[in-house]
Amino acid sequence: MIDQRLLPRELVMVRFQDYRDVAVAIRDMCVRGAPAIGASAAFGMALAARQAVRAGEPLLPALEEAGRILGATRPTAVNLFWAIERMLAAARRLATLAPEAIAAALLAEAEAIADADVEANRRMGRFGAELLPDPATVITHCNAGALATVAYGTALGLIRAAAEMGKRLHVLVDETRPRLQGAHLTAWELMQEGIGCTLIADNAAGHFLLRGQVDAVVFGADRIAANGDVANKIGTYKLAVVAHENGVPVYCAAPLSTVDLKLPRGLDIPIEERSPEEVLYVGKERIAPEGMRAANPAFDVTPAKYITAIVTEVGVLRPPFEDSLSRAFREAE
Ligand code: MRU
Repeated sequence: MIDQRLLPRELVMVRFQDYRDVAVAIRDMCVRGAPAIGASAAFGMALAARQAVRAGEPLLPALEEAGRILGATRPTAVNLFWAIERMLAAARRLATLAPEAIAAALLAEAEAIADADVEANRRMGRFGAELLPDPATVITHCNAGALATVAYGTALGLIRAAAEMGKRLHVLVDETRPRLQGAHLTAWELMQEGIGCTLIADNAAGHFLLRGQVDAVVFGADRIAANGDVANKIGTYKLAVVAHENGVPVYCAAPLSTVDLKLPRGLDIPIEERSPEEVLYVGKERIAPEGMRAANPAFDVTPAKYITAIVTEVGVLRPPFEDSLSRAFREAE
């Protein structure tokens, strides 16, 4: 995987032979973004199977332990738990085979998860690009691009697809305090792609929205509840409310692996609380007095009433999302 903590200064690939190192990479945000975390966990499970076979350990208990370790890394993005469950289900289904055959099948399963993510992003891109006018100025928050997925991206996938269709786009990139995924990652991806973009402080979004300078807001999701409430990077809620107040459409792009139908509403989604240091420091520089406390919820929940449409790999879903989401799952099956 790419060590995302080093971007945009350096592009460094890292390789892992031990699933525990994959867990540390997810926890410490070497890899981040809901679908990327899910795919990484799937390959972590495939590594765990290989490790158990080499050590001559019983496979299913080793995989269950790996699932617990990988699942304890980050609580909000449901893709993590979805991928671990899918890998465990595959292992249980194949339990009568030789351990080597199960390990090989699990590697194929992880590859299938990764391939399906790319395909889902491309489909979302095609559906979502139709929603954007030409020309258009779009605000995006956090990083929901190729880096946050296996390739192409969810929210940035829409933008990429619209640009590929020849639409003239300009992207206002929220810097996304405190981890600056917008400034570090989205800006880097858009510049690589040659798509026009301008970095803005998160606080500046309302200024552009009030002046009618924005045509759409697009972001990804870490978990979507059954009623369409969306957990995404902290600050998304404020952005969506101000967009809604100004009559600007709010589009969330996410694969069905990000939807958690078990949770009826967004306030049930577990929100990761990260280290106060991320707020108290910018880079290595402390920005608050010694002894100051800081709260650092990494995600917030945008109620469904602020979301114009959810773009998935099976199409553009409209409210009421209870109905359109459950229909989308039936269609996907
Ligand atoms: O804390 P992060 O960087 O993992 O949070 C990522 C986000 O909030 C993304 O916007 C979200 O996962 C959508 S990714 C396609």
